Amino acid sequence: MAQVIAFGADHGGFALKISLVPWLQSQGYEVLDLGAHTLDPLDDYPDFAAAVAQAVAEGKAERGIVICGSGVGACVVANKIPGIRASVCHDLYSARQGVEHDELNVLSLGARVVGLELAQQLTTEFLVARFTGEERHVRRLAKVNAIEQQSRQWQ
Ligand code: RB5
Repeated sequence: MAQVIAFGADHGGFALKISLVPWLQSQGYEVLDLGAHTLDPLDDYPDFAAAVAQAVAEGKAERGIVICGSGVGACVVANKIPGIRASVCHDLYSARQGVEHDELNVLSLGARVVGLELAQQLTTEFLVARFTGEERHVRRLAKVNAIEQQSRQWQ
């Protein structure tokens, strides 16, 4: 069965999104496209990044990709959703290692920073990588999860 990837972008990432989505589908992935569906210069990245992160957290998609102008705002939003580990990765090493060591489940891209070809390579590295499950990474993830649990008590 095809792996489901949730996808979202604001106006800053819209052009890259409409190129990346069909390419991703041609690679055999199922895309859950959570917008933007039209280019609206007044739309806001939190709306799309939150929708993608929520879909991943709820298990509707295995991983998510969010795009804004820099990748920063969308990444900040995605990390607000419990269970999400998102990062901007504009180099291939981090896109792969973020999954292998840190179990990254959302990749954030900046469309004003990377072009289509690099975005395709970053996406591939992110999607083919698997968490290694090595003891030291499991231990660190448990600490990350404990911090997330603790932070709920501050609210
Ligand atoms: C929108 O102009 C831009 O601020 C947004 O796409 C993103 O770069 C925020 O981090």
